[in-house]
Amino acid sequence: MKKFFAGLLVSCFTLNLSATETPYQAAIATAHPYATEAGREILELGGNAFDAAVAISAVLAVVEPYSSGLGGGGFWLLHRQSDQYQVMVDGRETAPESSSKNMYLDRAGNVIPGASINGPLAAAIPGVPAALFYINKHYGRISFADCLAPAIRYAREGFPVTDRYQKLAGYRLDELRRWPATAGIFLQDNDIPEKGHLIIQTDLADTLTRLARDGHTGFYGGPVAETLVKNVQLNRGIWKMRDLLHYRIKERRPVVAQYKRFRLVSAPPPSSGGIVLAQMLNMLERFNLSSFDPVSRKHIIVEVMRRAYRDRAVHLGDPDFVTVPVLRLLDPDYAEGLALSIDLDHATPSKDLSGVVAEENIGEDTTHFSVLDDEGNRVSATLSINLPFGSGFVANGTGILLNNEMDDFAIKPQTPKSYGLVGNEANSVAPGKRPLSSMSPTFLESEDEVAILGTPGGSRIITMVLLGILDFAEGNPPESWVSLPRFHHQYLPDELQFEKDGLTLPEQEQLRAYGHRLNEKNREYGNMQAILWYKPRQLVFAASDPRGEGAADVFDVIEQPRLARESSIP
Ligand code: GLY
Repeated sequence: MKKFFAGLLVSCFTLNLSATETPYQAAIATAHPYATEAGREILELGGNAFDAAVAISAVLAVVEPYSSGLGGGGFWLLHRQSDQYQVMVDGRETAPESSSKNMYLDRAGNVIPGASINGPLAAAIPGVPAALFYINKHYGRISFADCLAPAIRYAREGFPVTDRYQKLAGYRLDELRRWPATAGIFLQDNDIPEKGHLIIQTDLADTLTRLARDGHTGFYGGPVAETLVKNVQLNRGIWKMRDLLHYRIKERRPVVAQYKRFRLVSAPPPSSGGIVLAQMLNMLERFNLSSFDPVSRKHIIVEVMRRAYRDRAVHLGDPDFVTVPVLRLLDPDYAEGLALSIDLDHATPSKDLSGVVAEENIGEDTTHFSVLDDEGNRVSATLSINLPFGSGFVANGTGILLNNEMDDFAIKPQTPKSYGLVGNEANSVAPGKRPLSSMSPTFLESEDEVAILGTPGGSRIITMVLLGILDFAEGNPPESWVSLPRFHHQYLPDELQFEKDGLTLPEQEQLRAYGHRLNEKNREYGNMQAILWYKPRQLVFAASDPRGEGAADVFDVIEQPRLARESSIP
Protein backbone atom coordinates (compact mmCIF):
# COMPACT_ATOMS: atom_id res chain seq x y z
CA MET A 1 0.00 0.00 0.00
CA LYS A 2 2.70 2.36 -1.05
CA LYS A 3 0.48 5.39 -1.64
CA PHE A 4 -1.79 4.99 1.38
CA PHE A 5 1.08 4.20 3.70
CA ALA A 6 3.71 6.47 2.18
CA GLY A 7 3.76 8.70 5.24
CA LEU A 8 3.77 5.82 7.66
CA LEU A 9 6.54 3.99 5.87
CA VAL A 10 8.94 6.87 6.31
CA SER A 11 8.69 6.56 10.06
CA CYS A 12 8.79 2.77 9.81
CA PHE A 13 12.44 2.63 8.98
CA THR A 14 13.41 2.36 12.58
CA LEU A 15 10.77 -0.29 13.28
CA ASN A 16 10.85 -4.00 12.67
CA LEU A 17 9.19 -4.35 9.27
CA SER A 18 8.98 -8.14 9.29
CA ALA A 19 5.41 -9.18 8.59
CA THR A 20 3.55 -10.46 11.59
CA GLU A 21 1.08 -13.26 10.95
CA THR A 22 -1.47 -12.17 13.55
CA PRO A 23 -3.49 -8.99 13.11
CA TYR A 24 -4.20 -8.70 16.88
CA GLN A 25 -7.43 -6.92 16.00
CA ALA A 26 -10.56 -8.28 14.35
CA ALA A 27 -12.61 -6.63 11.62
CA ILE A 28 -16.08 -7.15 10.22
CA ALA A 29 -17.86 -5.42 7.34
CA THR A 30 -21.41 -6.39 6.45
CA ALA A 31 -24.45 -4.91 4.75
CA HIS A 32 -26.40 -4.55 8.00
CA PRO A 33 -25.37 -3.19 11.43
CA TYR A 34 -27.13 -6.08 13.22
CA ALA A 35 -25.04 -8.60 11.29
CA THR A 36 -21.82 -6.74 12.09
CA GLU A 37 -22.80 -6.65 15.78
CA ALA A 38 -23.64 -10.36 15.72
CA GLY A 39 -20.22 -11.19 14.27
CA ARG A 40 -18.54 -9.23 17.04
CA GLU A 41 -20.73 -10.90 19.65
CA ILE A 42 -19.61 -14.32 18.43
CA LEU A 43 -15.91 -13.40 18.42
CA GLU A 44 -16.29 -12.05 21.95
CA LEU A 45 -17.92 -15.32 22.92
CA GLY A 46 -14.73 -17.17 21.92
CA GLY A 47 -15.75 -18.08 18.38
CA ASN A 48 -13.45 -17.74 15.40
CA ALA A 49 -13.99 -16.02 12.03
CA PHE A 50 -15.84 -19.09 10.76
CA ASP A 51 -18.29 -19.06 13.66
CA ALA A 52 -18.74 -15.33 13.14
CA ALA A 53 -19.44 -16.00 9.44
CA VAL A 54 -22.17 -18.48 10.39
CA ALA A 55 -23.76 -15.97 12.76
CA ILE A 56 -23.52 -13.12 10.25
CA SER A 57 -25.01 -15.24 7.45
CA ALA A 58 -27.91 -16.23 9.68
CA VAL A 59 -28.57 -12.66 10.80
CA LEU A 60 -28.44 -11.36 7.23
CA ALA A 61 -30.96 -14.09 6.36
CA VAL A 62 -33.30 -12.46 8.88
CA VAL A 63 -32.68 -8.74 8.44
CA GLU A 64 -32.03 -8.60 4.68
CA PRO A 65 -34.83 -10.85 3.39
CA TYR A 66 -34.49 -9.16 0.00
CA SER A 67 -30.86 -10.25 -0.39
CA SER A 68 -30.21 -13.67 1.09
CA GLY A 69 -31.81 -16.19 3.39
CA LEU A 70 -32.27 -19.78 4.50
CA GLY A 71 -34.14 -20.25 1.23
CA GLY A 72 -31.07 -19.26 -0.81
CA GLY A 73 -27.44 -20.14 -1.43
CA GLY A 74 -23.95 -18.71 -1.32
CA PHE A 75 -20.20 -19.09 -1.43
CA TRP A 76 -17.97 -18.79 1.64
CA LEU A 77 -14.26 -18.36 0.89
CA LEU A 78 -12.29 -19.44 3.98
CA HIS A 79 -8.68 -19.00 5.04
CA ARG A 80 -7.47 -20.83 8.16
CA GLN A 81 -4.39 -19.13 9.49
CA SER A 82 -2.87 -22.01 11.47
CA ASP A 83 -2.12 -24.08 8.34
CA GLN A 84 -2.90 -21.52 5.59
CA TYR A 85 -5.68 -23.81 4.34
CA GLN A 86 -7.98 -22.13 1.83
CA VAL A 87 -11.23 -23.46 0.51
CA MET A 88 -14.52 -22.27 -0.91
CA VAL A 89 -17.57 -23.77 0.73
CA ASP A 90 -20.09 -24.06 -2.10
CA GLY A 91 -23.61 -23.74 -0.73
CA ARG A 92 -25.09 -22.89 -4.11
CA GLU A 93 -28.65 -24.06 -4.79
CA THR A 94 -29.24 -27.12 -6.96
CA ALA A 95 -31.90 -27.69 -9.62
CA PRO A 96 -34.64 -30.09 -8.43
CA GLU A 97 -34.64 -33.67 -9.69
CA SER A 98 -37.76 -33.00 -11.79
CA SER A 99 -36.25 -30.00 -13.56
CA SER A 100 -35.38 -30.16 -17.24
CA LYS A 101 -33.59 -28.13 -19.84
CA ASN A 102 -36.70 -26.65 -21.46
CA MET A 103 -38.87 -26.32 -18.38
CA TYR A 104 -39.27 -22.56 -18.79
CA LEU A 105 -40.18 -22.69 -22.50
CA ASP A 106 -43.63 -22.98 -24.05
CA ARG A 107 -44.50 -25.43 -26.81
CA ALA A 108 -43.27 -23.02 -29.44
CA GLY A 109 -39.89 -22.87 -27.67
CA ASN A 110 -40.41 -19.36 -26.33
CA VAL A 111 -39.49 -18.36 -22.79
CA ILE A 112 -42.61 -18.25 -20.56
CA PRO A 113 -42.46 -14.74 -19.05
CA GLY A 114 -41.76 -14.79 -15.31
CA ALA A 115 -41.67 -18.59 -15.00
CA SER A 116 -38.04 -18.68 -13.86
CA ILE A 117 -38.48 -15.59 -11.67
CA ASN A 118 -41.74 -15.75 -9.75
CA GLY A 119 -43.18 -18.38 -7.42
CA PRO A 120 -41.93 -21.80 -6.35
CA LEU A 121 -41.19 -23.10 -9.85
CA ALA A 122 -38.36 -20.53 -9.94
CA ALA A 123 -36.80 -21.90 -6.76
CA ALA A 124 -33.79 -24.20 -6.63
CA ILE A 125 -32.98 -26.34 -3.58
CA PRO A 126 -31.46 -24.04 -0.92
CA GLY A 127 -27.87 -24.42 0.27
CA VAL A 128 -27.53 -21.83 3.05
CA PRO A 129 -28.78 -23.99 5.97
CA ALA A 130 -26.46 -26.85 4.97
CA ALA A 131 -23.51 -24.49 4.58
CA LEU A 132 -23.99 -22.87 7.97
CA PHE A 133 -24.05 -26.24 9.71
CA TYR A 134 -21.09 -27.48 7.63
CA ILE A 135 -18.89 -24.45 8.31
CA ASN A 136 -19.56 -24.55 12.03
CA LYS A 137 -18.98 -28.31 12.21
CA HIS A 138 -15.76 -28.39 10.19
CA TYR A 139 -14.15 -25.05 10.95
CA GLY A 140 -15.89 -23.48 13.93
CA ARG A 141 -15.00 -23.45 17.58
CA ILE A 142 -18.24 -22.77 19.45
CA SER A 143 -21.63 -24.47 19.26
CA PHE A 144 -23.94 -24.12 16.29
CA ALA A 145 -26.70 -23.04 18.66
CA ASP A 146 -24.55 -20.17 19.92
CA CYS A 147 -23.86 -19.10 16.34
CA LEU A 148 -27.56 -19.01 15.45
CA ALA A 149 -28.70 -17.30 18.66
CA PRO A 150 -28.44 -13.70 17.36
CA ALA A 151 -30.48 -14.55 14.24
CA ILE A 152 -33.17 -16.24 16.32
CA ARG A 153 -33.31 -13.18 18.54
CA TYR A 154 -33.73 -10.78 15.59
CA ALA A 155 -36.34 -13.03 13.98
CA ARG A 156 -38.40 -13.07 17.21
CA GLU A 157 -37.94 -9.45 18.23
CA GLY A 158 -38.02 -7.95 14.75
CA PHE A 159 -35.94 -5.47 12.81
CA PRO A 160 -36.99 -2.02 11.60
CA VAL A 161 -37.84 -1.31 7.97
CA THR A 162 -35.32 1.01 6.28
CA ASP A 163 -35.14 2.98 3.04
CA ARG A 164 -33.45 0.08 1.33
CA TYR A 165 -36.14 -2.35 2.46
CA GLN A 166 -38.84 -0.02 1.14
CA LYS A 167 -37.11 0.42 -2.19
CA LEU A 168 -36.64 -3.31 -2.77
CA ALA A 169 -40.11 -4.22 -1.51
CA GLY A 170 -41.47 -1.66 -3.97
CA TYR A 171 -39.57 -3.34 -6.76
CA ARG A 172 -41.21 -6.72 -5.99
CA LEU A 173 -44.51 -5.51 -4.56
CA ASP A 174 -46.78 -7.46 -6.93
CA GLU A 175 -45.07 -10.71 -6.11
CA LEU A 176 -45.01 -10.02 -2.36
CA ARG A 177 -48.77 -9.37 -2.51
CA ARG A 178 -49.45 -12.50 -4.51
CA TRP A 179 -48.61 -14.94 -1.71
CA PRO A 180 -50.53 -14.48 1.58
CA ALA A 181 -47.77 -16.02 3.71
CA THR A 182 -45.29 -13.57 2.17
CA ALA A 183 -47.52 -10.52 2.47
CA GLY A 184 -48.29 -11.40 6.09
CA ILE A 185 -44.61 -11.18 7.00
CA PHE A 186 -43.06 -8.62 4.68
CA LEU A 187 -45.89 -6.14 4.01
CA GLN A 188 -47.94 -3.91 6.29
CA ASP A 189 -51.65 -3.93 5.43
CA ASN A 190 -50.64 -5.46 2.09
CA ASP A 191 -48.46 -2.47 1.26
CA ILE A 192 -44.84 -1.40 1.63
CA PRO A 193 -44.28 -1.08 5.38
CA GLU A 194 -43.55 2.30 6.94
CA LYS A 195 -40.01 3.12 7.86
CA GLY A 196 -39.31 1.83 11.36
CA HIS A 197 -42.10 -0.77 11.22
CA LEU A 198 -40.82 -3.97 12.86
CA ILE A 199 -40.64 -7.09 10.69
CA ILE A 200 -41.21 -9.98 13.09
CA GLN A 201 -40.60 -13.51 11.76
CA THR A 202 -41.86 -16.00 14.34
CA ASP A 203 -42.02 -18.95 11.93
CA LEU A 204 -38.48 -18.25 10.77
CA ALA A 205 -37.33 -18.08 14.40
CA ASP A 206 -38.88 -21.53 14.95
CA THR A 207 -37.19 -22.89 11.81
CA LEU A 208 -33.84 -21.46 12.90
CA THR A 209 -34.33 -22.95 16.36
CA ARG A 210 -34.97 -26.37 14.84
CA LEU A 211 -31.88 -25.98 12.65
CA ALA A 212 -29.81 -24.99 15.70
CA ARG A 213 -31.03 -28.03 17.60
CA ASP A 214 -31.02 -30.70 14.87
CA GLY A 215 -28.34 -29.42 12.48
CA HIS A 216 -28.52 -30.36 8.78
CA THR A 217 -31.53 -32.64 9.17
CA GLY A 218 -33.37 -29.90 11.05
CA PHE A 219 -33.89 -28.32 7.64
CA TYR A 220 -33.40 -31.05 5.01
CA GLY A 221 -35.45 -33.76 6.76
CA GLY A 222 -38.40 -33.88 9.15
CA PRO A 223 -41.18 -31.32 9.52
CA VAL A 224 -39.42 -28.31 7.94
CA ALA A 225 -38.58 -30.23 4.76
CA GLU A 226 -42.04 -31.80 4.63
CA THR A 227 -43.75 -28.42 4.98
CA LEU A 228 -41.51 -26.87 2.34
CA VAL A 229 -42.20 -29.64 -0.18
CA LYS A 230 -45.94 -29.66 0.53
CA ASN A 231 -46.23 -25.88 0.02
CA VAL A 232 -44.10 -25.87 -3.09
CA GLN A 233 -46.11 -28.68 -4.68
CA LEU A 234 -49.42 -27.04 -3.77
CA ASN A 235 -48.30 -24.02 -5.76
CA ARG A 236 -47.12 -25.73 -8.95
CA GLY A 237 -43.54 -26.20 -7.81
CA ILE A 238 -41.62 -29.42 -8.45
CA TRP A 239 -39.62 -30.05 -5.28
CA LYS A 240 -39.61 -33.55 -3.78
CA MET A 241 -38.40 -34.74 -0.38
CA ARG A 242 -35.55 -36.48 -2.18
CA ASP A 243 -34.25 -33.13 -3.45
CA LEU A 244 -33.81 -31.87 0.08
CA LEU A 245 -32.50 -35.14 1.48
CA HIS A 246 -29.85 -35.29 -1.27
CA TYR A 247 -28.61 -31.70 -0.94
CA ARG A 248 -24.87 -31.65 -0.17
CA ILE A 249 -22.25 -28.95 0.39
CA LYS A 250 -19.20 -29.05 -1.91
CA GLU A 251 -15.73 -27.91 -0.99
CA ARG A 252 -14.02 -26.30 -3.99
CA ARG A 253 -10.44 -25.26 -4.50
CA PRO A 254 -10.35 -21.46 -5.05
CA VAL A 255 -9.12 -19.86 -8.27
CA VAL A 256 -5.65 -18.39 -7.70
CA ALA A 257 -3.81 -15.95 -9.96
CA GLN A 258 -0.89 -13.56 -9.62
CA TYR A 259 -1.24 -9.89 -10.59
CA LYS A 260 1.68 -7.57 -10.03
CA ARG A 261 2.71 -7.83 -6.36
CA PHE A 262 -0.29 -9.78 -5.08
CA ARG A 263 -2.17 -13.04 -5.36
CA LEU A 264 -5.85 -13.17 -6.21
CA VAL A 265 -7.82 -15.89 -4.42
CA SER A 266 -11.42 -16.04 -5.56
CA ALA A 267 -14.47 -18.14 -6.29
CA PRO A 268 -14.17 -21.13 -8.67
CA PRO A 269 -17.04 -22.59 -10.73
CA PRO A 270 -19.98 -22.81 -10.32
CA SER A 271 -19.14 -19.15 -9.81
CA SER A 272 -17.75 -17.39 -12.83
CA GLY A 273 -16.22 -14.75 -10.54
CA GLY A 274 -12.72 -16.09 -9.96
CA ILE A 275 -12.07 -17.13 -13.54
CA VAL A 276 -13.39 -13.90 -15.04
CA LEU A 277 -11.40 -11.82 -12.53
CA ALA A 278 -8.22 -13.80 -13.20
CA GLN A 279 -8.72 -13.50 -16.96
CA MET A 280 -9.24 -9.74 -16.73
CA LEU A 281 -6.16 -9.31 -14.52
CA ASN A 282 -4.09 -11.53 -16.84
CA MET A 283 -5.06 -9.29 -19.76
CA LEU A 284 -4.41 -6.10 -17.79
CA GLU A 285 -0.97 -7.38 -16.81
CA ARG A 286 -0.08 -6.77 -20.48
CA PHE A 287 -0.68 -3.03 -20.12
CA ASN A 288 1.16 -0.53 -17.99
CA LEU A 289 -2.11 1.05 -16.88
CA SER A 290 -0.48 3.91 -15.00
CA SER A 291 1.15 5.10 -18.22
CA PHE A 292 -2.26 5.79 -19.82
CA ASP A 293 -4.47 8.84 -19.35
CA PRO A 294 -7.64 8.17 -17.28
CA VAL A 295 -9.96 7.73 -20.27
CA SER A 296 -7.66 5.39 -22.21
CA ARG A 297 -7.25 3.42 -19.04
CA LYS A 298 -11.03 3.04 -18.71
CA HIS A 299 -11.25 2.07 -22.38
CA ILE A 300 -8.72 -0.73 -21.84
CA ILE A 301 -10.49 -1.95 -18.71
CA VAL A 302 -13.83 -2.00 -20.56
CA GLU A 303 -12.34 -3.98 -23.46
CA VAL A 304 -10.89 -6.48 -21.00
CA MET A 305 -14.31 -6.83 -19.33
CA ARG A 306 -15.96 -7.41 -22.71
CA ARG A 307 -13.60 -10.26 -23.60
CA ALA A 308 -13.73 -12.04 -20.26
CA TYR A 309 -17.55 -11.87 -20.14
CA ARG A 310 -17.69 -13.36 -23.60
CA ASP A 311 -15.77 -16.40 -22.34
CA ARG A 312 -18.07 -16.50 -19.34
CA ALA A 313 -21.09 -16.81 -21.62
CA VAL A 314 -19.51 -19.47 -23.78
CA HIS A 315 -17.63 -21.74 -21.41
CA LEU A 316 -18.77 -21.56 -17.80
CA GLY A 317 -21.18 -23.77 -15.89
CA ASP A 318 -21.33 -26.26 -13.00
CA PRO A 319 -18.01 -28.16 -13.10
CA ASP A 320 -19.77 -31.32 -11.85
CA PHE A 321 -21.76 -31.36 -15.10
CA VAL A 322 -19.59 -29.74 -17.76
CA THR A 323 -15.90 -29.54 -18.43
CA VAL A 324 -14.86 -25.96 -17.83
CA PRO A 325 -11.56 -25.25 -19.65
CA VAL A 326 -10.09 -23.61 -16.55
CA LEU A 327 -6.44 -24.09 -17.49
CA ARG A 328 -6.91 -22.59 -20.93
CA LEU A 329 -8.96 -19.67 -19.66
CA LEU A 330 -6.33 -18.88 -17.04
CA ASP A 331 -3.36 -19.41 -19.34
CA PRO A 332 -1.29 -16.20 -19.58
CA ASP A 333 -0.64 -16.91 -23.29
CA TYR A 334 -4.36 -17.03 -23.94
CA ALA A 335 -4.74 -13.71 -22.08
CA GLU A 336 -1.92 -12.29 -24.17
CA GLY A 337 -3.81 -13.17 -27.35
CA LEU A 338 -6.97 -11.53 -26.06
CA ALA A 339 -5.07 -8.45 -24.93
CA LEU A 340 -3.45 -8.14 -28.36
CA SER A 341 -6.90 -8.00 -29.94
CA ILE A 342 -7.66 -4.77 -28.03
CA ASP A 343 -7.55 -1.68 -30.23
CA LEU A 344 -6.32 1.19 -28.05
CA ASP A 345 -8.31 3.75 -30.04
CA HIS A 346 -11.53 1.93 -30.88
CA ALA A 347 -14.16 -0.13 -29.08
CA THR A 348 -14.39 -3.69 -30.42
CA PRO A 349 -18.04 -4.40 -31.32
CA SER A 350 -19.12 -7.42 -29.28
CA LYS A 351 -20.68 -8.90 -32.41
CA ASP A 352 -17.17 -9.17 -33.83
CA LEU A 353 -16.35 -11.55 -31.00
CA SER A 354 -19.61 -13.47 -31.66
CA GLY A 355 -23.15 -12.13 -31.72
CA VAL A 356 -26.50 -12.36 -29.97
CA VAL A 357 -28.89 -9.73 -28.68
CA ALA A 358 -29.39 -8.87 -25.06
CA GLU A 359 -31.37 -6.55 -22.89
CA GLU A 360 -31.56 -4.44 -19.73
CA ASN A 361 -29.64 -5.34 -16.65
CA ILE A 362 -31.07 -5.21 -13.13
CA GLY A 363 -29.97 -6.35 -9.72
CA GLU A 364 -29.81 -4.87 -6.26
CA ASP A 365 -30.07 -8.21 -4.53
CA THR A 366 -27.52 -10.55 -2.94
CA THR A 367 -25.26 -9.62 -0.03
CA HIS A 368 -21.59 -9.76 0.88
CA PHE A 369 -19.64 -9.72 4.13
CA SER A 370 -15.97 -9.86 5.09
CA VAL A 371 -14.52 -11.07 8.40
CA LEU A 372 -11.01 -11.20 9.87
CA ASP A 373 -10.46 -12.54 13.37
CA ASP A 374 -7.55 -11.55 15.59
CA GLU A 375 -5.70 -14.78 14.75
CA GLY A 376 -5.76 -14.06 11.01
CA ASN A 377 -8.55 -16.48 10.05
CA ARG A 378 -10.75 -14.89 7.45
CA VAL A 379 -13.94 -15.26 5.46
CA SER A 380 -15.17 -13.55 2.32
CA ALA A 381 -18.76 -14.59 1.64
CA THR A 382 -21.38 -13.64 -0.93
CA LEU A 383 -24.91 -14.97 -0.45
CA SER A 384 -28.04 -14.67 -2.55
CA ILE A 385 -31.65 -15.47 -3.18
CA ASN A 386 -31.19 -13.88 -6.62
CA LEU A 387 -33.61 -11.04 -7.38
CA PRO A 388 -34.88 -8.90 -4.48
CA PHE A 389 -37.05 -11.09 -2.21
CA GLY A 390 -36.15 -14.05 -4.46
CA SER A 391 -39.15 -15.82 -5.93
CA GLY A 392 -41.43 -13.90 -3.54
CA PHE A 393 -42.81 -17.17 -2.20
CA VAL A 394 -42.78 -18.02 1.51
CA ALA A 395 -43.61 -21.61 2.36
CA ASN A 396 -46.43 -21.21 4.86
CA GLY A 397 -45.46 -22.13 8.42
CA THR A 398 -41.68 -22.08 7.81
CA GLY A 399 -40.95 -18.37 7.37
CA ILE A 400 -38.62 -19.35 4.54
CA LEU A 401 -38.61 -17.10 1.50
CA LEU A 402 -37.55 -19.17 -1.51
CA ASN A 403 -34.91 -18.07 -4.00
CA ASN A 404 -35.38 -17.65 -7.75
CA GLU A 405 -31.90 -18.85 -8.56
CA MET A 406 -33.19 -21.08 -11.41
CA ASP A 407 -33.11 -17.87 -13.43
CA ASP A 408 -29.30 -17.95 -13.21
CA PHE A 409 -29.35 -20.93 -15.58
CA ALA A 410 -29.35 -20.33 -19.34
CA ILE A 411 -33.11 -20.80 -19.62
CA LYS A 412 -32.85 -20.87 -23.38
CA PRO A 413 -29.28 -20.84 -24.62
CA GLN A 414 -28.40 -17.59 -26.43
CA THR A 415 -31.35 -15.81 -24.79
CA PRO A 416 -30.70 -12.97 -22.34
CA LYS A 417 -31.91 -13.43 -18.77
CA SER A 418 -32.86 -10.97 -16.05
CA TYR A 419 -29.36 -9.51 -15.76
CA GLY A 420 -29.09 -9.29 -19.55
CA LEU A 421 -26.42 -12.02 -19.53
CA VAL A 422 -26.34 -14.64 -22.23
CA GLY A 423 -25.43 -18.23 -21.60
CA ASN A 424 -25.06 -21.46 -23.46
CA GLU A 425 -25.35 -25.20 -23.01
CA ALA A 426 -22.68 -25.25 -20.30
CA ASN A 427 -25.19 -23.49 -18.08
CA SER A 428 -28.44 -25.14 -19.18
CA VAL A 429 -30.84 -26.57 -16.58
CA ALA A 430 -30.30 -30.18 -15.45
CA PRO A 431 -31.41 -32.05 -12.31
CA GLY A 432 -28.96 -31.57 -9.43
CA LYS A 433 -26.97 -28.94 -11.34
CA ARG A 434 -25.87 -25.62 -9.78
CA PRO A 435 -26.62 -22.48 -11.80
CA LEU A 436 -23.67 -20.37 -12.87
CA SER A 437 -23.12 -17.45 -10.53
CA SER A 438 -21.28 -14.12 -10.61
CA MET A 439 -20.71 -14.04 -6.85
CA SER A 440 -17.04 -13.27 -6.29
CA PRO A 441 -15.90 -13.45 -2.67
CA THR A 442 -12.21 -12.57 -2.90
CA PHE A 443 -8.92 -12.34 -1.01
CA LEU A 444 -5.89 -10.38 -2.20
CA GLU A 445 -2.59 -11.37 -0.61
CA SER A 446 0.89 -9.94 -0.80
CA GLU A 447 3.80 -10.17 1.56
CA ASP A 448 2.55 -7.13 3.45
CA GLU A 449 -1.19 -7.07 2.89
CA VAL A 450 -4.32 -9.14 3.09
CA ALA A 451 -7.51 -7.75 1.57
CA ILE A 452 -10.98 -9.29 1.89
CA LEU A 453 -13.69 -7.98 -0.41
CA GLY A 454 -16.82 -8.64 -2.41
CA THR A 455 -20.18 -7.14 -3.29
CA PRO A 456 -23.70 -7.95 -4.46
CA GLY A 457 -24.95 -6.67 -7.81
CA GLY A 458 -25.85 -9.50 -10.20
CA SER A 459 -23.76 -9.63 -13.34
CA ARG A 460 -21.97 -6.42 -12.30
CA ILE A 461 -20.44 -8.09 -9.23
CA ILE A 462 -17.30 -9.18 -11.05
CA THR A 463 -16.51 -5.80 -12.59
CA MET A 464 -17.13 -4.03 -9.27
CA VAL A 465 -14.66 -6.38 -7.60
CA LEU A 466 -12.20 -5.77 -10.46
CA LEU A 467 -12.37 -1.99 -9.93
CA GLY A 468 -11.85 -2.53 -6.19
CA ILE A 469 -8.83 -4.73 -6.91
CA LEU A 470 -7.26 -2.17 -9.24
CA ASP A 471 -7.76 0.51 -6.60
CA PHE A 472 -6.09 -1.75 -4.02
CA ALA A 473 -3.26 -2.28 -6.51
CA GLU A 474 -2.77 1.47 -6.64
CA GLY A 475 -2.29 1.58 -2.90
CA ASN A 476 -5.63 3.04 -1.89
CA PRO A 477 -7.47 2.06 1.32
CA PRO A 478 -10.78 0.11 1.62
CA GLU A 479 -12.82 3.32 1.97
CA SER A 480 -11.75 4.13 -1.54
CA TRP A 481 -12.46 0.64 -3.01
CA VAL A 482 -16.01 0.67 -1.71
CA SER A 483 -16.77 4.25 -2.79
CA LEU A 484 -15.33 4.32 -6.33
CA PRO A 485 -17.64 5.32 -9.17
CA ARG A 486 -18.44 2.12 -11.08
CA PHE A 487 -18.58 1.18 -14.74
CA HIS A 488 -19.28 -2.13 -16.39
CA HIS A 489 -19.29 -4.06 -19.64
CA GLN A 490 -20.53 -7.63 -19.90
CA TYR A 491 -20.02 -8.33 -23.63
CA LEU A 492 -23.77 -8.28 -24.23
CA PRO A 493 -25.61 -6.02 -24.30
CA ASP A 494 -22.83 -4.17 -26.11
CA GLU A 495 -22.85 -1.07 -23.95
CA LEU A 496 -20.68 0.57 -21.38
CA GLN A 497 -22.87 0.92 -18.31
CA PHE A 498 -21.97 3.30 -15.53
CA GLU A 499 -23.43 4.55 -12.30
CA LYS A 500 -25.23 7.85 -12.22
CA ASP A 501 -22.51 10.50 -12.51
CA GLY A 502 -19.91 7.69 -12.62
CA LEU A 503 -18.13 9.21 -15.64
CA THR A 504 -17.48 12.91 -16.18
CA LEU A 505 -18.96 14.55 -19.27
CA PRO A 506 -15.54 14.86 -20.99
CA GLU A 507 -14.89 11.17 -20.21
CA GLN A 508 -18.25 10.24 -21.71
CA GLU A 509 -17.51 12.26 -24.82
CA GLN A 510 -14.13 10.67 -25.35
CA LEU A 511 -15.38 7.15 -24.72
CA ARG A 512 -18.16 7.75 -27.27
CA ALA A 513 -15.52 8.89 -29.71
CA TYR A 514 -13.80 5.52 -29.22
CA GLY A 515 -17.07 3.90 -30.35
CA HIS A 516 -18.54 2.87 -26.98
CA ARG A 517 -22.29 2.98 -26.59
CA LEU A 518 -22.87 4.50 -23.15
CA ASN A 519 -25.70 3.66 -20.78
CA GLU A 520 -25.83 5.81 -17.65
CA LYS A 521 -27.86 4.14 -14.91
CA ASN A 522 -30.27 6.34 -13.03
CA ARG A 523 -28.82 5.24 -9.71
CA GLU A 524 -25.80 3.83 -7.92
CA TYR A 525 -25.28 0.09 -7.60
CA GLY A 526 -23.38 -2.42 -5.47
CA ASN A 527 -22.76 -2.73 -1.74
CA MET A 528 -19.12 -3.64 -1.22
CA GLN A 529 -17.82 -4.75 2.18
CA ALA A 530 -14.06 -4.74 2.54
CA ILE A 531 -11.21 -5.28 5.01
CA LEU A 532 -7.48 -4.62 4.79
CA TRP A 533 -4.83 -6.01 7.10
CA TYR A 534 -1.52 -4.21 6.65
CA LYS A 535 0.95 -6.56 8.29
CA PRO A 536 4.11 -4.45 8.75
CA ARG A 537 2.26 -2.07 11.06
CA GLN A 538 -0.35 -4.53 12.36
CA LEU A 539 -3.03 -2.21 11.10
CA VAL A 540 -6.53 -3.32 10.24
CA PHE A 541 -9.09 -1.28 8.29
CA ALA A 542 -12.67 -2.04 7.32
CA ALA A 543 -15.16 -0.21 5.14
CA SER A 544 -18.79 -0.60 4.21
CA ASP A 545 -20.09 0.77 0.92
CA PRO A 546 -21.61 4.26 1.42
CA ARG A 547 -24.35 3.27 -1.06
CA GLY A 548 -25.74 0.76 1.45
CA GLU A 549 -26.84 0.70 5.07
CA GLY A 550 -24.06 -1.56 6.35
CA ALA A 551 -21.50 -1.21 9.11
CA ALA A 552 -17.79 -1.86 9.40
CA ASP A 553 -16.03 -2.44 12.72
CA VAL A 554 -12.40 -2.92 13.75
CA PHE A 555 -11.91 -3.93 17.37
CA ASP A 556 -9.87 -5.69 20.03
CA VAL A 557 -11.54 -8.97 20.87
CA ILE A 558 -12.24 -8.98 24.59
CA GLU A 559 -14.00 -12.16 25.58
CA GLN A 560 -17.25 -11.48 27.39
CA PRO A 561 -18.46 -13.66 30.26
CA ARG A 562 -21.02 -16.14 28.95
CA LEU A 563 -23.34 -15.54 31.94
CA ALA A 564 -23.94 -12.01 30.72
CA ARG A 565 -25.50 -13.39 27.55
CA GLU A 566 -28.91 -14.71 26.79
CA SER A 567 -29.29 -18.44 26.57
CA SER A 568 -28.91 -19.39 22.90
CA ILE A 569 -31.63 -21.99 22.53
CA PRO A 570 -34.98 -21.84 24.31
N1 GLY B 1 -27.81 -14.65 -8.18
C1 GLY B 1 -26.70 -13.86 -8.47
C2 GLY B 1 -25.48 -14.65 -8.74
O1 GLY B 1 -25.38 -15.76 -8.27
O2 GLY B 1 -24.61 -14.21 -9.42
